[in-house]
Formats: sequence, C-alpha cells, structure tokens
Amino acid sequence: MIRSVEEFNSKIKSVMISEEQIKEKIAEAAKEIDSWYDGTPILLVSILKGAFVFMADICRAVTVPCEIGFMCAQSYYSGTQSSGIVNITMDLDHDVSKYHVVIIEDIIDTGRTLNDVVKLLRARNPKSLRIVTLLDKPARRVVELEADVTLFTIPDKFIIGYGLDCGEYFRSLPYIAEYNEEEK
Ligand code: IMP
Ligand code: MG
Repeated sequence: MIRSVEEFNSKIKSVMISEEQIKEKIAEAAKEIDSWYDGTPILLVSILKGAFVFMADICRAVTVPCEIGFMCAQSYYSGTQSSGIVNITMDLDHDVSKYHVVIIEDIIDTGRTLNDVVKLLRARNPKSLRIVTLLDKPARRVVELEADVTLFTIPDKFIIGYGLDCGEYFRSLPYIAEYNEEEK
C-alpha cells in the first residue's frame, strides 16, 4: 500500500522510456498493423489490466476498421514476483472464428500468460492471429513465444507505468519507469 505522494514518487527510480518514444513507436506499429490487413476489419484483443493504455493508443493510431475486445488474465498477484499460475478471469464476448485477431499485450516476460491466451484463442479458430507487444523481456522467458511486433526490448528490470503496475499503483504514469525496489 502506498500511503503518500512522497512514497509514490520514491518508487519511481528513473524513466526508461519516455512518452515521446512511446508515441513514435506506436505510430510505426499502427502502420505495420494496417499493412497486414489491407482495410479488412479486425478484432483487437487486449489483456487486462496491463495493456489497457497501450490498447487505447494503438486503436486510435490504426486506420483499419477494428472492434475491441478484452480478456482478463493474471499471473502477477502482487509485488514483483510471478506466481507462475495464469488465470483467465474474464473472457471475450466475440465469436473469434469470425475475425482476424490481433492480441495487444503490454509485456512478454516469462511468456506464460500470453502463451495460455494464444492457445485458448487458437482453439477457437480465428481467421488469423497475430501478436503485438509493447515490451519484451527476453531474459526471463520460460515459454518459447515471439510477438509479430515488439515496440521495445528491455533488460530484466521490474518496470511500471503506461498501464503496468506494482501492487496496482503506477498504471497511470504516462511513461515507462524502472521501479525502485529499495525499502526506505
Ligand atoms: P508473463 O506471463 O511472465 O510473460 O507476464 C505476465 C504479466 O506480468 C504481464 O502481462 C504483466 O502484466 C506482468 N509483468 C511482467 N513483467 C512486469 C514488469 O516488469 N512490471 C509490471 N508488470 C509486469
Ligand atoms: Mg499483461
């Protein structure tokens, strides 16, 4: 629990990726997504909660007509350690077999969450399935999995901001920062 603004600010170690850098890469990623479909409508599927900010920016940057869907998958319950258990707590309400699907993910860390989501969606026979991830931490991968587009590859540091949390805080930061794990 964060008790004050001072405590909140003390947890932000340094900015790793600025708002400006994110904006640039989003424009590039959106162009790439547009180029895959040649105007054919798609379904963007985002995994809550971490990817909600990225989804909001990506869906406004693409020009291909898109529907938006959300799923809730959790593997981090609190703090900075993965529990290793992936739970689908909210499912899509779309019939995936009718769509070209693009998964919009915040970060691929161990790869477990996304791997489970991909398996689940593939089993529903989408017309096609692609993955766009904002961040990739390849050093921590335990499941073989690669995105079609990765905006930023980052070192093995726990990060916060732009949708990503620590203990449910910091999702609201407009940039991506390294989290300060030191106790005061
Ligand atoms: P994975 O299953 O280990 O690939 O990661 C699952 C989820 O853990 C991601 O979608 C994020 O929501 C969360 N996560 C992984 N690394 C970080 C981090 O550095 N900061 C905040 N959340 C993270
Ligand atoms: Mg996530």
